[in-house]
Amino acid sequence: MMWARRDILKAGSAIVATTGLPRLARAQVGGTSVGTLEIDTAGRRAPISPLIFGQFIEFLGRSITGGIFEEGSPLSDANGFRRDVLAKVLGLQPTILRFPGGTVTKIYHWEDGIGPRATRRVRPNLIWGGVEDNHFGTDEFIRYARELKAEPFITVSMGVGTAEEASNWVEYCNGTGRTHYADLRRRNGFDAPHAVKYWGLGNEEDAEPDAGRLQDPADYVREAWYYAKLMKLHDPSIKLIAAGGGQAWNERVVHELHPVADYLALHLYPKTQGGVPLSLIKSADDTEATIGTIRDQIARLAPPRVTEFNKWYRFPPRAAPMMIALDEIGIWEDAGGGVYNMETRYDWNHALATATLYNVMIRNADIIGMATWAQTVNVLAPILTNATGSIAQTIWFVMALYRRFCGSHRLSATLPSPVLALPGAEQQRSLDTAATIDDAGGTISVFVVNRHPDRAVATRIARPAGYRRVDLHELSAPSPRSANTLDRPEENVVAERSRTLGTIPDHYSFPAHSITVLHFRR
Ligand code: AHR
Repeated sequence: MMWARRDILKAGSAIVATTGLPRLARAQVGGTSVGTLEIDTAGRRAPISPLIFGQFIEFLGRSITGGIFEEGSPLSDANGFRRDVLAKVLGLQPTILRFPGGTVTKIYHWEDGIGPRATRRVRPNLIWGGVEDNHFGTDEFIRYARELKAEPFITVSMGVGTAEEASNWVEYCNGTGRTHYADLRRRNGFDAPHAVKYWGLGNEEDAEPDAGRLQDPADYVREAWYYAKLMKLHDPSIKLIAAGGGQAWNERVVHELHPVADYLALHLYPKTQGGVPLSLIKSADDTEATIGTIRDQIARLAPPRVTEFNKWYRFPPRAAPMMIALDEIGIWEDAGGGVYNMETRYDWNHALATATLYNVMIRNADIIGMATWAQTVNVLAPILTNATGSIAQTIWFVMALYRRFCGSHRLSATLPSPVLALPGAEQQRSLDTAATIDDAGGTISVFVVNRHPDRAVATRIARPAGYRRVDLHELSAPSPRSANTLDRPEENVVAERSRTLGTIPDHYSFPAHSITVLHFRR
Protein backbone atom coordinates (compact mmCIF):
# COMPACT_ATOMS: atom_id res chain seq x y z
CA MET A 1 0.00 0.00 0.00
CA MET A 2 2.78 2.45 0.83
CA TRP A 3 4.65 1.90 -2.40
CA ALA A 4 1.57 2.38 -4.50
CA ARG A 5 0.90 5.72 -2.90
CA ARG A 6 4.47 6.92 -3.32
CA ASP A 7 4.53 5.83 -6.94
CA ILE A 8 1.38 7.78 -7.66
CA LEU A 9 2.85 10.91 -6.08
CA LYS A 10 6.11 10.38 -7.94
CA ALA A 11 4.24 10.05 -11.20
CA GLY A 12 2.53 13.34 -10.36
CA SER A 13 5.62 15.35 -9.54
CA ALA A 14 7.52 14.13 -12.62
CA ILE A 15 5.13 16.10 -14.80
CA VAL A 16 4.70 19.26 -12.78
CA ALA A 17 3.23 22.09 -14.79
CA THR A 18 3.00 25.24 -12.69
CA THR A 19 -0.18 27.05 -13.58
CA GLY A 20 -0.80 30.76 -13.79
CA LEU A 21 2.81 31.91 -14.20
CA PRO A 22 2.23 34.00 -17.35
CA ARG A 23 -0.19 36.11 -15.36
CA LEU A 24 2.39 36.96 -12.73
CA ALA A 25 3.72 39.77 -14.86
CA ARG A 26 0.65 41.78 -13.90
CA ALA A 27 1.01 41.09 -10.22
CA GLN A 28 3.50 42.53 -7.85
CA VAL A 29 5.71 39.82 -6.41
CA GLY A 30 5.90 40.08 -2.66
CA GLY A 31 2.63 40.70 -0.89
CA THR A 32 0.40 43.48 -2.13
CA SER A 33 -0.84 42.75 -5.63
CA VAL A 34 -2.51 44.94 -8.20
CA GLY A 35 -4.02 42.15 -10.27
CA THR A 36 -7.70 41.96 -11.13
CA LEU A 37 -10.10 39.16 -10.29
CA GLU A 38 -12.00 38.45 -13.50
CA ILE A 39 -14.87 36.00 -13.70
CA ASP A 40 -15.89 34.75 -17.11
CA THR A 41 -19.67 34.51 -16.74
CA ALA A 42 -20.21 33.94 -20.47
CA GLY A 43 -17.64 31.14 -20.87
CA ARG A 44 -18.02 27.37 -20.90
CA ARG A 45 -19.58 25.98 -17.71
CA ALA A 46 -18.71 22.43 -16.72
CA PRO A 47 -21.18 20.76 -14.37
CA ILE A 48 -19.60 19.99 -10.99
CA SER A 49 -20.46 16.51 -9.76
CA PRO A 50 -22.05 16.78 -6.30
CA LEU A 51 -20.25 13.48 -5.63
CA ILE A 52 -16.94 15.33 -5.12
CA PHE A 53 -18.11 15.85 -1.53
CA GLY A 54 -17.74 12.20 -0.54
CA GLN A 55 -16.25 10.43 2.47
CA PHE A 56 -14.53 7.10 3.04
CA ILE A 57 -14.48 4.63 5.96
CA GLU A 58 -12.32 1.51 6.22
CA PHE A 59 -11.54 -1.25 8.68
CA LEU A 60 -8.30 0.52 9.52
CA GLY A 61 -7.38 1.50 13.08
CA ARG A 62 -10.21 3.54 14.65
CA SER A 63 -11.87 4.64 11.43
CA ILE A 64 -14.96 2.48 11.92
CA THR A 65 -14.78 0.85 15.37
CA GLY A 66 -13.96 3.62 17.86
CA GLY A 67 -14.71 6.20 15.18
CA ILE A 68 -18.17 6.25 13.72
CA PHE A 69 -19.20 3.06 15.56
CA GLU A 70 -18.73 2.18 19.21
CA GLU A 71 -21.06 -0.34 20.79
CA GLY A 72 -21.67 0.20 24.48
CA SER A 73 -20.42 3.78 24.53
CA PRO A 74 -22.71 6.25 26.35
CA LEU A 75 -22.21 8.45 23.27
CA SER A 76 -23.68 5.82 20.94
CA ASP A 77 -27.24 5.06 19.91
CA ALA A 78 -28.95 1.66 19.74
CA ASN A 79 -27.23 0.96 16.39
CA GLY A 80 -23.83 1.58 17.95
CA PHE A 81 -23.38 4.83 15.97
CA ARG A 82 -21.52 7.53 17.88
CA ARG A 83 -24.04 10.40 17.84
CA ASP A 84 -21.38 13.08 18.50
CA VAL A 85 -19.43 11.84 15.50
CA LEU A 86 -22.52 11.48 13.34
CA ALA A 87 -23.40 15.13 14.02
CA LYS A 88 -19.97 16.19 12.79
CA VAL A 89 -20.12 13.95 9.70
CA LEU A 90 -23.59 15.37 8.99
CA GLY A 91 -22.05 18.84 9.18
CA LEU A 92 -20.08 17.93 6.05
CA GLN A 93 -23.26 16.80 4.22
CA PRO A 94 -21.40 14.05 2.38
CA THR A 95 -22.99 12.99 -0.89
CA ILE A 96 -21.36 9.56 -1.14
CA LEU A 97 -19.73 7.17 1.36
CA ARG A 98 -17.13 4.56 0.38
CA PHE A 99 -16.68 1.28 2.31
CA PRO A 100 -15.09 -1.14 3.38
CA GLY A 101 -11.66 -0.13 1.99
CA GLY A 102 -9.05 0.63 0.87
CA THR A 103 -6.40 -1.95 1.15
CA VAL A 104 -8.46 -4.00 3.55
CA THR A 105 -10.76 -5.07 0.70
CA LYS A 106 -8.02 -7.50 -0.30
CA ILE A 107 -8.88 -9.68 2.72
CA TYR A 108 -12.55 -8.83 3.15
CA HIS A 109 -15.41 -11.33 2.93
CA TRP A 110 -18.68 -9.42 3.03
CA GLU A 111 -20.67 -12.37 4.37
CA ASP A 112 -18.68 -12.12 7.63
CA GLY A 113 -20.54 -8.86 8.30
CA ILE A 114 -24.23 -9.75 7.98
CA GLY A 115 -26.79 -11.44 10.24
CA PRO A 116 -27.00 -11.45 14.05
CA ARG A 117 -23.94 -9.69 15.44
CA ALA A 118 -23.25 -12.35 18.05
CA THR A 119 -22.69 -15.00 15.37
CA ARG A 120 -20.56 -12.95 13.00
CA ARG A 121 -17.13 -14.27 12.18
CA VAL A 122 -14.24 -12.63 14.03
CA ARG A 123 -11.08 -12.41 11.96
CA PRO A 124 -7.62 -10.96 12.35
CA ASN A 125 -7.19 -7.82 10.27
CA LEU A 126 -4.25 -9.14 8.26
CA ILE A 127 -3.71 -5.81 6.52
CA TRP A 128 -3.82 -3.22 9.28
CA GLY A 129 -3.48 -5.35 12.43
CA GLY A 130 -5.90 -6.01 15.28
CA VAL A 131 -9.04 -8.09 15.21
CA GLU A 132 -12.24 -7.34 13.32
CA ASP A 133 -15.48 -8.58 14.89
CA ASN A 134 -17.50 -7.52 11.84
CA HIS A 135 -20.25 -6.01 13.99
CA PHE A 136 -20.31 -3.19 11.46
CA GLY A 137 -21.12 -4.75 8.10
CA THR A 138 -23.12 -4.14 4.96
CA ASP A 139 -26.48 -3.41 6.63
CA GLU A 140 -24.93 -1.10 9.22
CA PHE A 141 -23.05 0.69 6.44
CA ILE A 142 -26.22 1.20 4.44
CA ARG A 143 -28.06 2.44 7.52
CA TYR A 144 -25.24 4.91 8.22
CA ALA A 145 -25.15 6.14 4.62
CA ARG A 146 -28.93 6.62 4.71
CA GLU A 147 -28.65 8.69 7.91
CA LEU A 148 -26.23 10.91 6.03
CA LYS A 149 -28.38 10.91 2.88
CA ALA A 150 -25.22 9.81 1.07
CA GLU A 151 -24.97 7.35 -1.82
CA PRO A 152 -23.37 4.10 -0.64
CA PHE A 153 -20.25 3.08 -2.60
CA ILE A 154 -18.92 -0.45 -2.07
CA THR A 155 -15.49 -1.72 -3.10
CA VAL A 156 -15.38 -5.47 -3.74
CA SER A 157 -12.54 -7.80 -2.85
CA MET A 158 -10.29 -8.83 -5.72
CA GLY A 159 -7.82 -10.38 -3.29
CA VAL A 160 -9.36 -13.24 -1.31
CA GLY A 161 -12.72 -12.56 -2.99
CA THR A 162 -14.07 -13.98 -6.22
CA ALA A 163 -16.25 -12.62 -9.00
CA GLU A 164 -19.08 -14.83 -7.79
CA GLU A 165 -18.77 -13.49 -4.23
CA ALA A 166 -18.88 -9.92 -5.56
CA SER A 167 -21.93 -10.64 -7.68
CA ASN A 168 -23.64 -12.25 -4.67
CA TRP A 169 -23.01 -8.98 -2.84
CA VAL A 170 -24.77 -7.09 -5.64
CA GLU A 171 -27.66 -9.57 -5.38
CA TYR A 172 -27.81 -9.12 -1.60
CA CYS A 173 -27.87 -5.32 -1.87
CA ASN A 174 -29.89 -4.76 -5.02
CA GLY A 175 -31.82 -7.97 -5.70
CA THR A 176 -35.56 -7.58 -6.12
CA GLY A 177 -36.55 -11.20 -6.93
CA ARG A 178 -37.17 -14.11 -4.56
CA THR A 179 -33.56 -15.29 -4.80
CA HIS A 180 -31.23 -16.57 -2.10
CA TYR A 181 -29.21 -13.43 -1.30
CA ALA A 182 -32.09 -10.98 -1.79
CA ASP A 183 -34.14 -13.12 0.61
CA LEU A 184 -31.24 -13.19 3.06
CA ARG A 185 -31.29 -9.38 3.08
CA ARG A 186 -35.04 -9.51 3.77
CA ARG A 187 -34.48 -11.95 6.63
CA ASN A 188 -31.91 -9.53 8.03
CA GLY A 189 -34.61 -6.88 8.22
CA PHE A 190 -34.35 -5.03 4.93
CA ASP A 191 -37.32 -5.60 2.65
CA ALA A 192 -36.44 -2.81 0.26
CA PRO A 193 -33.24 -3.23 -1.75
CA HIS A 194 -30.24 -1.23 -0.57
CA ALA A 195 -29.95 0.06 -4.17
CA VAL A 196 -26.17 0.47 -4.19
CA LYS A 197 -25.25 2.20 -7.42
CA TYR A 198 -21.45 2.61 -7.14
CA TRP A 199 -19.14 -0.42 -7.02
CA GLY A 200 -15.35 -0.39 -7.01
CA LEU A 201 -13.51 -3.20 -8.79
CA GLY A 202 -10.81 -3.74 -6.18
CA ASN A 203 -8.45 -1.16 -4.73
CA GLU A 204 -4.86 -0.26 -5.68
CA GLU A 205 -4.56 -3.66 -7.33
CA ASP A 206 -1.13 -2.71 -8.73
CA ALA A 207 0.37 -2.32 -5.25
CA GLU A 208 3.14 -4.89 -4.92
CA PRO A 209 3.57 -5.07 -1.13
CA ASP A 210 -0.17 -5.61 -0.67
CA ALA A 211 -1.84 -8.98 -0.22
CA GLY A 212 -3.25 -8.68 -3.74
CA ARG A 213 -2.88 -11.15 -6.55
CA LEU A 214 -3.47 -9.10 -9.73
CA GLN A 215 -0.48 -6.82 -9.87
CA ASP A 216 0.00 -7.28 -13.59
CA PRO A 217 -2.45 -5.04 -15.50
CA ALA A 218 -3.24 -7.86 -17.95
CA ASP A 219 -4.34 -10.06 -15.03
CA TYR A 220 -6.35 -7.24 -13.53
CA VAL A 221 -8.16 -6.43 -16.76
CA ARG A 222 -9.07 -10.09 -17.41
CA GLU A 223 -10.38 -10.58 -13.89
CA ALA A 224 -12.13 -7.19 -13.74
CA TRP A 225 -14.06 -8.00 -16.92
CA TYR A 226 -15.26 -11.22 -15.32
CA TYR A 227 -16.32 -9.36 -12.16
CA ALA A 228 -18.05 -6.68 -14.25
CA LYS A 229 -20.05 -9.28 -16.18
CA LEU A 230 -21.27 -11.20 -13.14
CA MET A 231 -22.05 -8.05 -11.17
CA LYS A 232 -23.83 -6.29 -14.05
CA LEU A 233 -25.86 -9.36 -14.88
CA HIS A 234 -27.40 -8.97 -11.42
CA ASP A 235 -27.96 -5.25 -11.84
CA PRO A 236 -27.17 -3.64 -15.20
CA SER A 237 -27.65 -0.15 -13.78
CA ILE A 238 -24.66 -0.21 -11.41
CA LYS A 239 -21.68 2.08 -12.07
CA LEU A 240 -18.20 0.59 -11.91
CA ILE A 241 -14.96 2.15 -10.73
CA ALA A 242 -11.82 0.50 -12.12
CA ALA A 243 -8.70 0.48 -9.95
CA GLY A 244 -6.07 2.98 -11.10
CA GLY A 245 -2.32 2.94 -10.62
CA GLY A 246 0.79 4.22 -12.39
CA GLN A 247 0.78 5.55 -15.96
CA ALA A 248 1.33 2.26 -17.79
CA TRP A 249 -1.28 0.52 -15.64
CA ASN A 250 -3.82 3.26 -16.36
CA GLU A 251 -3.19 3.12 -20.13
CA ARG A 252 -4.05 -0.54 -20.21
CA VAL A 253 -6.99 -0.34 -17.84
CA VAL A 254 -8.59 2.64 -19.61
CA HIS A 255 -8.03 1.09 -23.02
CA GLU A 256 -9.44 -2.33 -22.18
CA LEU A 257 -12.03 -1.70 -19.47
CA HIS A 258 -13.55 1.55 -20.68
CA PRO A 259 -16.61 -0.09 -22.29
CA VAL A 260 -17.84 -1.09 -18.81
CA ALA A 261 -15.91 1.12 -16.40
CA ASP A 262 -17.62 4.44 -15.68
CA TYR A 263 -14.69 5.72 -13.64
CA LEU A 264 -10.96 5.22 -13.23
CA ALA A 265 -9.85 5.47 -9.59
CA LEU A 266 -7.07 7.88 -8.71
CA HIS A 267 -5.61 8.18 -5.21
CA LEU A 268 -3.97 11.47 -4.23
CA TYR A 269 -2.23 12.05 -0.92
CA PRO A 270 -0.21 15.28 -0.87
CA LYS A 271 2.22 15.56 2.03
CA THR A 272 4.78 17.83 3.64
CA GLN A 273 8.34 17.13 2.46
CA GLY A 274 11.35 17.36 4.75
CA GLY A 275 9.43 19.12 7.52
CA VAL A 276 9.02 22.30 5.38
CA PRO A 277 5.35 23.33 5.82
CA LEU A 278 4.93 25.12 2.48
CA SER A 279 6.11 22.06 0.56
CA LEU A 280 2.61 20.75 1.28
CA ILE A 281 1.18 23.57 -0.83
CA LYS A 282 3.43 22.56 -3.74
CA SER A 283 2.42 18.93 -3.25
CA ALA A 284 -1.27 19.92 -3.35
CA ASP A 285 -0.71 22.05 -6.47
CA ASP A 286 1.06 19.14 -8.19
CA THR A 287 -2.11 17.03 -8.05
CA GLU A 288 -3.47 19.11 -10.92
CA ALA A 289 -0.77 17.86 -13.29
CA THR A 290 -1.50 14.25 -12.31
CA ILE A 291 -5.19 14.79 -13.06
CA GLY A 292 -4.23 16.38 -16.39
CA THR A 293 -2.23 13.32 -17.41
CA ILE A 294 -5.16 11.03 -16.74
CA ARG A 295 -7.57 13.38 -18.52
CA ASP A 296 -5.33 13.04 -21.61
CA GLN A 297 -5.25 9.25 -21.31
CA ILE A 298 -9.02 9.04 -21.04
CA ALA A 299 -9.48 11.41 -23.99
CA ARG A 300 -7.11 9.29 -26.08
CA LEU A 301 -8.26 5.83 -25.06
CA ALA A 302 -11.90 6.00 -23.97
CA PRO A 303 -14.29 7.45 -26.56
CA PRO A 304 -17.14 9.42 -24.93
CA ARG A 305 -19.66 6.93 -26.32
CA VAL A 306 -19.20 3.18 -26.66
CA THR A 307 -20.49 2.19 -30.07
CA GLU A 308 -19.28 -1.40 -30.38
CA PHE A 309 -20.34 -3.73 -27.61
CA ASN A 310 -20.82 -7.46 -27.80
CA LYS A 311 -24.58 -7.99 -28.23
CA TRP A 312 -24.51 -11.13 -26.09
CA TYR A 313 -24.01 -9.09 -22.94
CA ARG A 314 -27.37 -8.68 -21.30
CA PHE A 315 -26.37 -5.29 -19.96
CA PRO A 316 -25.61 -2.03 -21.73
CA PRO A 317 -22.14 -0.51 -22.15
CA ARG A 318 -20.99 2.59 -20.31
CA ALA A 319 -23.42 5.37 -21.17
CA ALA A 320 -21.63 8.57 -20.11
CA PRO A 321 -18.01 9.66 -20.70
CA MET A 322 -15.47 7.96 -18.46
CA MET A 323 -14.46 10.12 -15.49
CA ILE A 324 -11.88 10.07 -12.71
CA ALA A 325 -13.03 8.84 -9.29
CA LEU A 326 -10.73 10.39 -6.69
CA ASP A 327 -11.90 7.66 -4.36
CA GLU A 328 -9.05 8.44 -1.99
CA ILE A 329 -8.00 12.04 -1.59
CA GLY A 330 -6.49 13.29 1.63
CA ILE A 331 -3.32 14.62 3.26
CA TRP A 332 -0.94 11.92 4.42
CA GLU A 333 1.45 13.10 7.11
CA ASP A 334 3.55 10.97 9.37
CA ALA A 335 1.48 10.76 12.55
CA GLY A 336 4.34 9.13 14.49
CA GLY A 337 4.24 5.65 15.99
CA GLY A 338 4.96 3.77 12.77
CA VAL A 339 3.25 3.39 9.39
CA TYR A 340 0.11 1.84 10.82
CA ASN A 341 -0.73 4.88 12.91
CA MET A 342 -2.57 7.35 10.71
CA GLU A 343 -4.22 9.48 13.41
CA THR A 344 -2.80 12.67 11.96
CA ARG A 345 -3.22 16.05 13.67
CA TYR A 346 -3.98 18.71 11.10
CA ASP A 347 -3.06 22.35 11.57
CA TRP A 348 -4.15 25.45 9.65
CA ASN A 349 -1.54 24.92 6.92
CA HIS A 350 -3.29 21.60 6.20
CA ALA A 351 -6.56 23.50 5.96
CA LEU A 352 -5.04 25.80 3.32
CA ALA A 353 -3.88 22.72 1.39
CA THR A 354 -7.34 21.15 1.72
CA ALA A 355 -8.92 24.28 0.25
CA THR A 356 -6.40 24.08 -2.59
CA LEU A 357 -7.45 20.48 -3.26
CA TYR A 358 -11.13 21.49 -3.48
CA ASN A 359 -10.15 24.30 -5.85
CA VAL A 360 -8.27 21.74 -7.96
CA MET A 361 -11.37 19.52 -8.05
CA ILE A 362 -13.60 22.42 -9.07
CA ARG A 363 -11.19 23.60 -11.76
CA ASN A 364 -11.08 20.05 -13.14
CA ALA A 365 -14.82 19.42 -12.85
CA ASP A 366 -14.96 18.30 -16.48
CA ILE A 367 -13.07 15.10 -15.58
CA ILE A 368 -13.56 14.57 -11.80
CA GLY A 369 -16.72 12.51 -11.39
CA MET A 370 -16.48 11.89 -7.65
CA ALA A 371 -14.13 12.18 -4.69
CA THR A 372 -14.20 10.43 -1.32
CA TRP A 373 -12.03 12.00 1.35
CA ALA A 374 -9.62 9.50 2.90
CA GLN A 375 -10.76 9.10 5.52
CA THR A 376 -13.67 10.45 7.62
CA VAL A 377 -12.83 9.73 11.26
CA ASN A 378 -9.50 9.24 13.11
CA VAL A 379 -7.56 7.93 10.08
CA LEU A 380 -6.09 10.92 8.15
CA ALA A 381 -9.39 12.51 9.06
CA PRO A 382 -11.27 15.77 9.68
CA ILE A 383 -12.79 14.27 12.86
CA LEU A 384 -10.92 12.83 15.86
CA THR A 385 -12.46 10.91 18.73
CA ASN A 386 -11.62 9.61 22.17
CA ALA A 387 -13.80 7.73 24.63
CA THR A 388 -15.40 10.91 25.94
CA GLY A 389 -15.88 13.07 22.88
CA SER A 390 -14.73 14.20 19.46
CA ILE A 391 -13.36 17.27 17.73
CA ALA A 392 -13.49 18.79 14.28
CA GLN A 393 -9.96 19.34 13.00
CA THR A 394 -9.04 22.44 10.98
CA ILE A 395 -9.67 20.69 7.64
CA TRP A 396 -13.29 19.94 8.67
CA PHE A 397 -14.20 23.64 8.48
CA VAL A 398 -12.83 23.89 4.95
CA MET A 399 -14.78 20.87 3.77
CA ALA A 400 -17.99 22.25 5.27
CA LEU A 401 -17.39 25.67 3.68
CA TYR A 402 -16.88 24.26 0.18
CA ARG A 403 -19.88 21.97 0.52
CA ARG A 404 -22.03 24.92 1.51
CA PHE A 405 -21.01 27.38 -1.19
CA CYS A 406 -20.01 25.25 -4.19
CA GLY A 407 -22.41 25.87 -7.07
CA SER A 408 -23.62 23.47 -9.71
CA HIS A 409 -21.21 24.55 -12.48
CA ARG A 410 -17.60 25.63 -12.77
CA LEU A 411 -16.85 29.07 -14.13
CA SER A 412 -13.48 30.14 -15.29
CA ALA A 413 -11.87 32.90 -13.23
CA THR A 414 -8.46 34.53 -13.32
CA LEU A 415 -6.77 36.07 -10.34
CA PRO A 416 -3.16 37.16 -10.82
CA SER A 417 -1.04 36.41 -7.81
CA PRO A 418 2.45 36.94 -6.52
CA VAL A 419 4.43 33.78 -5.97
CA LEU A 420 5.10 32.66 -2.42
CA ALA A 421 8.88 32.80 -2.95
CA LEU A 422 9.41 30.89 0.29
CA PRO A 423 11.27 27.65 1.03
CA GLY A 424 9.36 24.62 -0.19
CA ALA A 425 7.04 26.55 -2.50
CA GLU A 426 9.11 29.19 -4.30
CA GLN A 427 7.11 29.17 -7.54
CA GLN A 428 3.67 28.50 -6.10
CA ARG A 429 1.07 31.24 -6.33
CA SER A 430 0.10 32.90 -3.09
CA LEU A 431 -3.56 33.08 -4.17
CA ASP A 432 -5.33 29.99 -5.46
CA THR A 433 -8.80 30.42 -6.96
CA ALA A 434 -11.80 28.54 -8.27
CA ALA A 435 -15.23 29.84 -9.24
CA THR A 436 -18.68 28.27 -9.45
CA ILE A 437 -22.17 29.36 -10.42
CA ASP A 438 -25.39 27.95 -9.10
CA ASP A 439 -28.05 26.89 -11.57
CA ALA A 440 -30.87 27.57 -9.18
CA GLY A 441 -30.25 31.11 -7.96
CA GLY A 442 -27.50 32.24 -10.34
CA THR A 443 -25.23 33.15 -7.42
CA ILE A 444 -21.48 33.01 -8.06
CA SER A 445 -19.01 31.71 -5.48
CA VAL A 446 -15.35 32.59 -5.89
CA PHE A 447 -13.11 30.61 -3.56
CA VAL A 448 -9.79 32.31 -2.83
CA VAL A 449 -7.07 30.73 -0.68
CA ASN A 450 -4.22 33.00 0.35
CA ARG A 451 -1.53 30.47 1.14
CA HIS A 452 1.04 33.07 2.23
CA PRO A 453 1.84 32.54 5.92
CA ASP A 454 2.10 36.23 6.79
CA ARG A 455 1.22 38.55 3.92
CA ALA A 456 -2.13 39.84 2.80
CA VAL A 457 -2.64 40.09 -0.96
CA ALA A 458 -4.82 42.82 -2.42
CA THR A 459 -6.63 42.63 -5.73
CA ARG A 460 -8.97 44.65 -7.90
CA ILE A 461 -12.34 43.09 -8.53
CA ALA A 462 -13.94 43.29 -11.97
CA ARG A 463 -17.68 43.32 -11.31
CA PRO A 464 -19.29 40.33 -13.06
CA ALA A 465 -21.87 41.69 -15.54
CA GLY A 466 -25.37 41.65 -14.05
CA TYR A 467 -24.15 41.23 -10.45
CA ARG A 468 -24.51 44.05 -7.93
CA ARG A 469 -23.94 42.67 -4.46
CA VAL A 470 -21.41 40.46 -2.71
CA ASP A 471 -21.27 38.65 0.62
CA LEU A 472 -18.07 37.41 2.14
CA HIS A 473 -17.38 34.28 4.14
CA GLU A 474 -13.93 33.82 5.57
CA LEU A 475 -12.07 31.16 7.52
CA SER A 476 -8.86 31.96 9.35
CA ALA A 477 -6.75 30.88 12.31
CA PRO A 478 -4.16 32.65 14.46
CA SER A 479 -1.26 31.01 12.60
CA PRO A 480 -0.60 28.28 10.02
CA ARG A 481 0.51 26.10 12.95
CA SER A 482 -2.76 26.46 14.89
CA ALA A 483 -4.66 23.23 15.51
CA ASN A 484 -7.63 21.91 17.46
CA THR A 485 -6.82 19.20 19.97
CA LEU A 486 -8.62 16.47 21.87
CA ASP A 487 -6.95 17.75 25.05
CA ARG A 488 -8.96 20.99 24.77
CA PRO A 489 -12.07 19.97 22.88
CA GLU A 490 -13.90 23.18 23.83
CA GLU A 491 -11.34 25.41 22.09
CA ASN A 492 -11.63 26.08 18.38
CA VAL A 493 -8.78 27.86 16.62
CA VAL A 494 -10.80 28.34 13.42
CA ALA A 495 -12.53 31.70 13.13
CA GLU A 496 -15.50 31.93 10.77
CA ARG A 497 -16.54 35.39 9.63
CA SER A 498 -19.47 36.27 7.38
CA ARG A 499 -20.13 39.81 6.17
CA THR A 500 -22.46 41.43 3.70
CA LEU A 501 -20.27 43.80 1.76
CA GLY A 502 -23.27 45.11 -0.17
CA THR A 503 -22.20 46.82 -3.38
CA ILE A 504 -19.24 45.03 -4.96
CA PRO A 505 -16.03 46.87 -3.91
CA ASP A 506 -13.31 47.80 -6.43
CA HIS A 507 -10.59 46.22 -4.30
CA TYR A 508 -10.29 43.50 -1.74
CA SER A 509 -7.36 42.36 0.37
CA PHE A 510 -7.17 38.67 1.20
CA PRO A 511 -5.63 38.26 4.68
CA ALA A 512 -2.55 36.10 5.19
CA HIS A 513 -3.29 32.36 5.49
CA SER A 514 -7.02 32.74 4.90
CA ILE A 515 -9.79 31.09 2.90
CA THR A 516 -12.44 33.39 1.47
CA VAL A 517 -15.65 32.87 -0.46
CA LEU A 518 -16.87 35.90 -2.38
CA HIS A 519 -20.54 35.19 -2.93
CA PHE A 520 -21.91 37.41 -5.71
CA ARG A 521 -25.62 38.11 -6.01
CA ARG A 522 -27.61 39.92 -8.68
O1 AHR B 1 -6.57 5.48 3.20
C1 AHR B 1 -5.57 4.66 3.72
C2 AHR B 1 -5.02 3.65 2.72
O2 AHR B 1 -4.31 4.35 1.73
C3 AHR B 1 -6.00 2.81 1.96
O3 AHR B 1 -6.35 1.66 2.60
C4 AHR B 1 -5.24 2.47 0.70
O4 AHR B 1 -6.09 2.24 -0.38
C5 AHR B 1 -4.29 3.64 0.51
O5 AHR B 1 -2.99 3.25 0.23
